[in-house]
Amino acid sequence: MERYIVNGGSPLNGEVEIYGAKNAALALIPAAILTEEPVVINNLPDVSDINVLLEAISQIGAKVERIDRHKVRITGASVTSHQLNYDYISKIRASYYLLGALLGRFHEAEVAMPGGCEIGARPIDQHIKGFEALGAKVQITNRQIYAKADELKGCHIYFDMVTVGATINVMLAAVLAKGNTIIENPAKEPHVVDLANMLNSMGANIRGAGTDVIRIKGVERLHKTEYTVIPDQIEAGTFMLAAAITKGNITVTNVIPKHLESITAKLIDIGCEVEEFDEAVSVRFGEKLLPTQVKTLPYPGYPTDMQPQIAVALALASGISTITESIFENRFVYSKELNKMGARIKVESSNTAIINGVKKLTGAHINAPDLRAGAALVLAALSAEGTSVIDGIEYIQRGYENFEGKLQALGADIIKTEIEED
Ligand code: EPZ
Repeated sequence: MERYIVNGGSPLNGEVEIYGAKNAALALIPAAILTEEPVVINNLPDVSDINVLLEAISQIGAKVERIDRHKVRITGASVTSHQLNYDYISKIRASYYLLGALLGRFHEAEVAMPGGCEIGARPIDQHIKGFEALGAKVQITNRQIYAKADELKGCHIYFDMVTVGATINVMLAAVLAKGNTIIENPAKEPHVVDLANMLNSMGANIRGAGTDVIRIKGVERLHKTEYTVIPDQIEAGTFMLAAAITKGNITVTNVIPKHLESITAKLIDIGCEVEEFDEAVSVRFGEKLLPTQVKTLPYPGYPTDMQPQIAVALALASGISTITESIFENRFVYSKELNKMGARIKVESSNTAIINGVKKLTGAHINAPDLRAGAALVLAALSAEGTSVIDGIEYIQRGYENFEGKLQALGADIIKTEIEED
C-alpha cells in the first residue's frame, strides 16, 4: 500500500497538461468491441480504472495492444465470451458498459454487478429499463446481471432521471439494433458526446448527443476507427481549484474551456481571476476566497465530481457557504477528514453541508474515502500548515494519472511512499 506525505503551505504555480478523460475512455473501450475491426484510441489516461477495463476485455478475448502509454489498439474480432467472471471488474463502475456493448453485438451478456466509489446507493434500474425497452430480458442473480435478447429493436425511452451511465449503456446497446431509438432526458455530459462521436466515426448514426433528445438509427455493422479521447474536465477542474486553495496561479493546458464553464463561474464567484484561451485556462488566486452557494447538477451544471474540491476552497473562505449535493446521497464523507484539519463543515442532511470558513488548515493524518474526495484532501493538505499523511491513495490512482508528479512540477512538497500492511 502507498500513502502521500505532504508538507503544505506553498502556493502552486505553473502549467499542467491535462490528460484524456477517464469517464469518456471508460465508455469508448467497450464501444471498441462493437466491431470486429481494430479501433485505435489515443489520449487514453494511464489510470487503474482504465487498466482494469482493458484487462477485462482481454479476458473475454479482445486483442489489446498498448502502442504506448496513452495509445491502445483494440481488436474485437476474437471476442468469444459474453460472460465476465473477472472478479476485479466488479470493483469499477464502468464494468456495466460491457453489458450494453456485449448485448449490442452478441445479444447476450453476463457481467458482475458494478462497484465503484461508495458515494451513494447507485441503482441500475434505468439501465435495465433501457435494455428491456430494446427487447432484452434481464435477470440479476448472485450479484451477476444477465441480459439476453433474440433481437434488439429500436425503441423510445424516457429516463426518470438524468443518468450518465444508463445513457451510455443504452447508446452502446442501441447502435446495432434494428430501427430507430429515441432517448429522452439523456445525460449531456461531454463524455456522452465523445462516445457518440467515436461511434459515428465507426459508422453509427447517432444525432443529438449533448442535447435533450438523442436519436439513434440502428446500423448493421460498425467498422474500424482511430479516435482521440477528450481532455478530462474533472482533472482540469481539480488543478483549477488547486490554484484557488493554495493561493497560487495555475494554467491547465490541453483542455476544452467550454467544458469547464460551470467550474470557471464558481471560481470567479469565490474571488479568483480566470482567463480562458483556445485550449487552456488560467486561474489566479485573488486577494481572498469568498463564500458562495454551490448546488451540484448534471452537465452543464456544477459537477458532483468537483464538489469535494470546491468544499476545500470554501473551508478557507471568509464567511459561510453552503453546498447542496443533488446527484449522490453519500458524498460528504470527506468532511470528517477535513474537520480533522481544522475545517468547520457541518453536514445538515445527506445532501446539504454548511461550511464556516477558517483562516487556515493544519496538517493531519487523513484517509481518502473515494476518488474525488481523495484528490480534494490532497489539495487541503497542500494548503495546510505542517505535514499531512494521506492514506487510501489507491482511490486517487483510479482516476488521476501521476497526480503527485504533476503537483510536484507545480511546486508541491508531496511524496508517495510505500507502507507495510499489518
Ligand atoms: C458517472 O457515474 C460517473 N462515473 C461518476 O464519476 C459521476 O459522478 C456521475 O456519472 C455523475 O456525473 C463514470 O462515468 C464511470 P449516473 P454514474 O448514472 O453513471 C441515479 C468519478 O469520480 N441513478 O449519472 O454511476 C444515481 O443513483 C465518478 O469519476 C438511478 O437512480 O452516475 C445518481 O443519483 C464517481 N438509477 C444519479 O442517477 C439508474 O439506473 C446519476 O447517476 C442510474 C442512475
